[in-house]
Amino acid sequence: MLGYYHIATMGCQMNEYDSDYLGQLLLDSGFYPTDNPARADLVLINTCAVRAKAEQKAFSLLGRIIALKKRKPHVKIAMVGCIAQKEGERLLKRFPELDLVLGTGEIERFGEILNLVYSEGRRVSATELRPDPIPPLSKKDYFRGRVKGFITIMQGCDNFCSYCIVPYVRGREISRPTRDILAEAENLVSQGIKEITLLGQNVNSYRSVEDAGTIDFPALLRRLSRVEGIVRLRFTTSHPKDLSDDLIRCFAEIPNLCPHIHLPVQSGSNAVLKRMNRHYSREHYMELVSRLRETRPAIAITSDMIVGFPGETDRDFELTLDLMQKIRFDNLFSFKYSDRKGTAAERMDDKLDEETKSSRLSILQSLQREITLSKNRELEGQSVEVLVEGPSKKGDQWTGRTDTNKVVNFPCLSNALGDIVKVLIEKAFINSLRGALVTK
Ligand code: 5AD
Ligand code: SF4
Repeated sequence: MLGYYHIATMGCQMNEYDSDYLGQLLLDSGFYPTDNPARADLVLINTCAVRAKAEQKAFSLLGRIIALKKRKPHVKIAMVGCIAQKEGERLLKRFPELDLVLGTGEIERFGEILNLVYSEGRRVSATELRPDPIPPLSKKDYFRGRVKGFITIMQGCDNFCSYCIVPYVRGREISRPTRDILAEAENLVSQGIKEITLLGQNVNSYRSVEDAGTIDFPALLRRLSRVEGIVRLRFTTSHPKDLSDDLIRCFAEIPNLCPHIHLPVQSGSNAVLKRMNRHYSREHYMELVSRLRETRPAIAITSDMIVGFPGETDRDFELTLDLMQKIRFDNLFSFKYSDRKGTAAERMDDKLDEETKSSRLSILQSLQREITLSKNRELEGQSVEVLVEGPSKKGDQWTGRTDTNKVVNFPCLSNALGDIVKVLIEKAFINSLRGALVTK
């Protein structure tokens, strides 16, 4: 054994996927995982750059790991992911204790680069945004004991929403070959995974040219849904401008495709949407929601919203609240606009002050809490199917999710991990539901 490694993963599910890829390579190289950074000989921080707050979190963790290294100088530290991609060499200059900077386009070269760090004692920054998607790597038994798995089906983004740094740190859109994705799904299922979430910044743009012709996203979903053993299939994230009728039809046709879609709207004002470069109107978005609900009435719809975008007026903000009241999202992830260097929005005038952004965010979040709770309460007295993920946080119950992605906790005396069970919902909260087991 070469020592212990610890990976701290921040940000989105794509980072979680990349962290697993790195973890598998480290196991193969003779390292052993630990949850405790103080025990580790190699610490990887997989970072997110989407908002300033996420960056601050990564740098404060880096500070704590550097403090550990001062007591254990042999420890190696790696910054991985979106901040690494964005800052590159500069990080090595700013933090002399840092050994490795590995950008999002270099994840698959990790083994080779780690070798340079260990065998030649070099400090390395690798941030070329190479257009090769990650090759499949599902180490036998690495995922055993887990119920849910992720597969990145495409990387990058070509949309350039004016506020967003992702196109700069994840590069241009590139789809993985369908056969690699199918092989990875089969491997995950063979290790006991029941639910697979397909990942991409914009999954609707998936396109792979294979012997059988061009495979687009609905065609990929149809193929994957036939992989034996996939009980639940999900995907994230879709861009409203590319949500096709064919994809909407998939929600009616594919039995194991979960009735949930995460469809980020970002604002309810057409003027703001235009400046965000989103290429759809609030009317078009509402039309999509109606079509989704007609096609699969039980579908849960979740979204992302940004408040305080440059130039957002009181009227624009009211339109956002109005859209929320009309649509009634099952859940909403909301953020204060955060300036990102190099984006078009950074160069816009009429930036809002922190106080206005904070007060709008809190008004929006309290409205959403009411909506979420009232939607969850509609489930009281109903029985739902739950895929059991493990013991609940407090450890006295089991926890899992409905196909609409709502958390359900319930008491159960036997091991229910990975089972689909029926639970009668007794009480709804904002973040979870509590119930009693009906059948196992
Ligand atoms: N400021 C605030 N929120 C942002 N997001 C992306 N970029 C920014 C930014 N500069 C939000 C969007 C996106 C989610 C992942 O993060 O809502 O959908
Ligand atoms: Fe960012 Fe827009 Fe691409 Fe999403 S679609 S990753 S918000 S640029």
